[in-house]
Amino acid sequence: MPMVDTQVSPSSSSEDLPTSTSTSPSSVEVELHKNINETAQSDIHLPAPFFPPSLAQKDPRYDLPSVIPRQLPSHLGFPSLPTEKACSNVDPADIGTPDAWIPRDSRLVRLTGKHPFNSEARLRDLYEEGFITPSNLFFVRNHGAVPKVDQKTADSWELKIHGLCANPVTLTLADLRTKFRVVTVPITLVCAGNRRKEQNVVQKSLGFSWGAGGLSTALFTGVYLADVLAYVQPERSAKHVVFEGIDDLPNGPYGTSQLLSWARDPRKGMMLAWGMNGLALEPDHGFPLRLVVPSQIGGRSVKWLSRIELSPIESQHHLHFHDNKVLPMPLGPDQARKEKEWWYDPRYIIRELNVNSAVACPDHDEVLDTTSASPTYTVKGYAYAGGGRRVARVELSSDNGDTWDLASITYPEDAFRSASYTSDSVYGDLDLTDSDISFCWCFWSYDIPVERLKGSNAIMVRGMDESLALQPRDMYWNATGMMNNWWFRVCIHHLEGGKLRFEHPTMAGTQPGGWMQRLKDDGLDPSKPDFSLKSTGSAKTNVSVAASSEVVMTNPSIMRKISAAELDSMEAKEEAWFVVRGEVGVDHPCVSPEEVDLKIFTVDHPGGAQSIELVAGEDATEDFIAIHSSDARRQLAEFHIGTFQPGDTMQKQHVAADDNDDDDQTKPFLRIKRWKPVELVNIRDVSKNAKVFRFALREKTQELGLPFGQHVYVRLKRKVKVVDGVQSEWVQRAYTPLSERNATGFVDLLVKIYYPNPEFPEGGRMSLGFAELVVGDRVELKGPVGHFIWKGNGVASLHDHDRHIEEIGLVCGGSGVTPILQVLRAILSDSSSTTKVWVLDVNREFEDILCKEEIDRLARENENRVKLHYSLTGREVPDNWDYSRGRITDEMLAAHMPIPGEDKLVCICGPSAMEQKVKASLRSIGWDELTAVVLF
Ligand code: MTE
Repeated sequence: MPMVDTQVSPSSSSEDLPTSTSTSPSSVEVELHKNINETAQSDIHLPAPFFPPSLAQKDPRYDLPSVIPRQLPSHLGFPSLPTEKACSNVDPADIGTPDAWIPRDSRLVRLTGKHPFNSEARLRDLYEEGFITPSNLFFVRNHGAVPKVDQKTADSWELKIHGLCANPVTLTLADLRTKFRVVTVPITLVCAGNRRKEQNVVQKSLGFSWGAGGLSTALFTGVYLADVLAYVQPERSAKHVVFEGIDDLPNGPYGTSQLLSWARDPRKGMMLAWGMNGLALEPDHGFPLRLVVPSQIGGRSVKWLSRIELSPIESQHHLHFHDNKVLPMPLGPDQARKEKEWWYDPRYIIRELNVNSAVACPDHDEVLDTTSASPTYTVKGYAYAGGGRRVARVELSSDNGDTWDLASITYPEDAFRSASYTSDSVYGDLDLTDSDISFCWCFWSYDIPVERLKGSNAIMVRGMDESLALQPRDMYWNATGMMNNWWFRVCIHHLEGGKLRFEHPTMAGTQPGGWMQRLKDDGLDPSKPDFSLKSTGSAKTNVSVAASSEVVMTNPSIMRKISAAELDSMEAKEEAWFVVRGEVGVDHPCVSPEEVDLKIFTVDHPGGAQSIELVAGEDATEDFIAIHSSDARRQLAEFHIGTFQPGDTMQKQHVAADDNDDDDQTKPFLRIKRWKPVELVNIRDVSKNAKVFRFALREKTQELGLPFGQHVYVRLKRKVKVVDGVQSEWVQRAYTPLSERNATGFVDLLVKIYYPNPEFPEGGRMSLGFAELVVGDRVELKGPVGHFIWKGNGVASLHDHDRHIEEIGLVCGGSGVTPILQVLRAILSDSSSTTKVWVLDVNREFEDILCKEEIDRLARENENRVKLHYSLTGREVPDNWDYSRGRITDEMLAAHMPIPGEDKLVCICGPSAMEQKVKASLRSIGWDELTAVVLF
């Protein structure tokens, strides 16, 4: 093809600017060194205004009716740029999040709830936009909040380049654009998690559910990294180039690295880019500067780029190790999470993309009327490969992969190889005429006879790249769920009246739909679909699939059948039998001390023993499957005792009774066997890391219904940072409300947030879930739970046995004060009672003592009945501190607890190490831990 060189706007500086291909490195370095601090003289501008179009549109300083990309000269035959305006409105979904200042397109499918923002366009929308994706539909992958960069910060943005190089330098954007050759390159970015939802349906991985829209293409404008590296002159000992953004993430900024030999190779096309489709980058895409690494996974393209370091070792950033890996298949998500060494094995890093393709037409749920359709239907989609390799073929099968037809492929990127467009004031040089490398997606299509569709259960597609790598038939399931590229299959349903309905494998995010989940719900293995006609010889039958290979939760040697009556028996209740997917498991609750060894499931159970006791005798499938990982599911096999008698109906009197009276608002809110939602209406800080969360009950006049000393189960969906982002998981725990027992219409929960720290890197799962809540969010409550009740008038019930109590010791630490406070309030509100109370509250710092005012007041007002003592374990104590210092000792307990005896009791609530220590000390000073010590 002839090369057209349109010198549209000759640049005075372009001749003397170095190019990575035409000038020898040494002359480049010398020349640049001379120029680097001189005034910019170039005609190459940053796209005007150099501010994200979405923000500029509404800002009077920019005085622009609209901001749309400037088109390239049409006679050159380049694919056209999208003409859509950037979004200008903040999506209501972002209100209340740190990103509430960024206008976003509400058509994007959110994959991780509200925040951080991770999203993709619907596949059909993305495909219809054509080769270049408008910025507002470009997929977004943010690990945290988007850094807020205003015009001033952008104008003075500094990129520091340092480390093992002769010329360390700090460059502004003006330096970059005036001192180096400005280029524009079409590049497709693909998230390594593209199509992960398919893996997640088979088995939940550590990542969230991308559909097949986790990729997008733009014209990126900036400078070649190779030119900049040539300028700083890396030393011989430098082997890696480390990149860092400014986003503020829990484990430090986002960063990753490239091998230096790759980064300085101009053919790899790595860029420092400020422009996207002729305009400034949008905040979500790295405004004002990002790295763009073509043909590698998107995770390598660091946004909000502020630092580049030449280093002898690879990036040490947290996410460089803990993200963007394909770990070996046998490694389950829980093992991967626990065993850190896998993440540091350099063999499992992902750099280049693998070959992949997907079907965009027919769309999911599209219906084709074969009676009126033309004789052929055009199946269409996209394909891409990594490492600069071209997609060499795309093939389509309608007979379950037995035979394949060749699709036609168009490569819009090639238009840029046929003509060049140089020295533009915004785009610089757009010239791929001397490049054979593929950095972009391509489009394929195949006209399939409608008769063939009528005789098929599914169409499937696979691509092959020029290294002959072929998309596999089988899924390579892996713990991070990355690089999923098995055949993309679209199922065909044969409806009445000659209509065909198409069904994609999955729908992105939490959207329902797709044949994979459908198969799974039917108990079949979605990773081994068989869309052949062989089972019946007819296309109109249902799809047959191989048997399920789900996690085995049963013990194959157990043959016992358990009837409904047995499940309802005393034995079942005492041993807390429960049913999951028709199989009966047993738990061994705290019945007698001899059984201690058998209590594995309850004792070690993260949700506490009562989370199991609550479902005793019942079908616990919903709660169990929702909360447990595959590894925990596997553990269930150890507790398998039999199969629920097929055909028997489970006794559900309890639940039914619960349900029936639910509309009766004169009854208390709580239900013992049913989760009920409550809405967060207020959050109040009470100390550095403790907050009171107020939740509204359904009715203003309704009481919660919690006896003194008992607790309520709270469950919520929390976001968990996983390998490559965030996913949600159910967490639950028992809490004692802070609100008075007779409070109506609301419940207050005092929660101490355990943020991650070096000793406890994951932080408190449940309390971090609370920390994420915003007003309007819901959590669910169930209860009451607990084996202790203060009944009043000096009577306590322990394991359903009433006892008269003369003296009670209450030991607490941190937020363990809440049940202690409830009991204290109950005892003191009862003026006829003579029970004496000994309170010992132990905390690290003075500020950590929660509810101190109320406790002090109660002690003051009842000084003849209450003995109150504190201890602080931290280094600092207030000057006039009259109480103890240091952790609880035997002596402290002896001095500040009642003397053991028949009608005495001690209740303890605090961190588990403290509880165990107090229990052991009490034992040593003569308390009977079985009958006289209560652990809340
Ligand atoms: N850079 C920073 N600073 N912070 C991030 O969270 N996410 C990475 C990469 N660069 C990320 C980042 C990932 S995983 C991907 S896939 C791409 O950005 C996505 O780029 P996009 O959001 O512009 O599509």
